[in-house]
Amino acid sequence: MAELNLILLGPPGAGKGTQAARLREDFGLAYIGTGDLLREHKESKTELGQRAQEYMDNGDLVPDDLVISMIIDKIEEEGEDGFLLDGFPRTVGQADALTEELEKLGRRLTAALLVDAPDEVVLQRLSGRRQCSNGHLYHVEFDPPKHEDVCDQDGKPLFRRKDDEPDTIRKRLATYHKQTEPLRDYYEERGYLRRFDGTRDKTEVHDHIRATLATLRLEERL
Ligand code: AP5
Ligand code: MG
Repeated sequence: MAELNLILLGPPGAGKGTQAARLREDFGLAYIGTGDLLREHKESKTELGQRAQEYMDNGDLVPDDLVISMIIDKIEEEGEDGFLLDGFPRTVGQADALTEELEKLGRRLTAALLVDAPDEVVLQRLSGRRQCSNGHLYHVEFDPPKHEDVCDQDGKPLFRRKDDEPDTIRKRLATYHKQTEPLRDYYEERGYLRRFDGTRDKTEVHDHIRATLATLRLEERL
């Protein structure tokens, strides 16, 4: 069966991480979450993590040169049978780097999955988001854990991300509209863009993405 090489695009809080967790299970894809990788670097205080910290805490993008090599190396190391990129590319420079890398490897993208949601929905979701250190996601109102501030899946304490304060969320949204939204047209023009309404229920969004991927796979075999 043809490999799946997928990108998840969309504003902060649209549900990229939520859908990624489900798609990873469905298809056993190598998951490469740029935000998670950068947060791990921050935690372990690597040079990259220290350089990235200020940008992340301000709601800005980390410079392309730091992010591109980190992700391209991961694709080569872990993504040879297919990958799911969450949070990369986020600038036209990053998208060009990915296009070049895939050409070099003789591979092609399957689809760029845009999970979209308006700013007011994002603000509400991110203000109530909680997660554990393994990345399991909750929302205090829409998806609360069984026991307050404890992860249902592994019993770890839940925390709030530093960049989920209202002012930083607004900054991240502005960054998204300016630097990442142009990728919608980038992938639309190349025929890869598939859109999903991220305001729908999580399971509905997931079903819709799976149906789209099933159709794409069928078309590839025709
Ligand atoms: P990153 O970690 O990627 O954050 P983000 O893009 O801002 O997206 P989020 O993770 O906040 O949201 P999400 O879409 O994953 O939503 P989630 O599923 O959690 O990046 C962080 C930072 O790292 C960036 O700001 C930047 O500094 C840096 N960075 C990352 N990539 C970079 C790059 N390529 N270049 C440069 N810098 C980079 O859902 C949110 C909440 O909503 C949860 O509580 C969830 O339970 C709930 N929810 C989800 N779906 C639904 C639904 N359908 N209905 C109701 N609630 C829902
Ligand atoms: Mg995420």
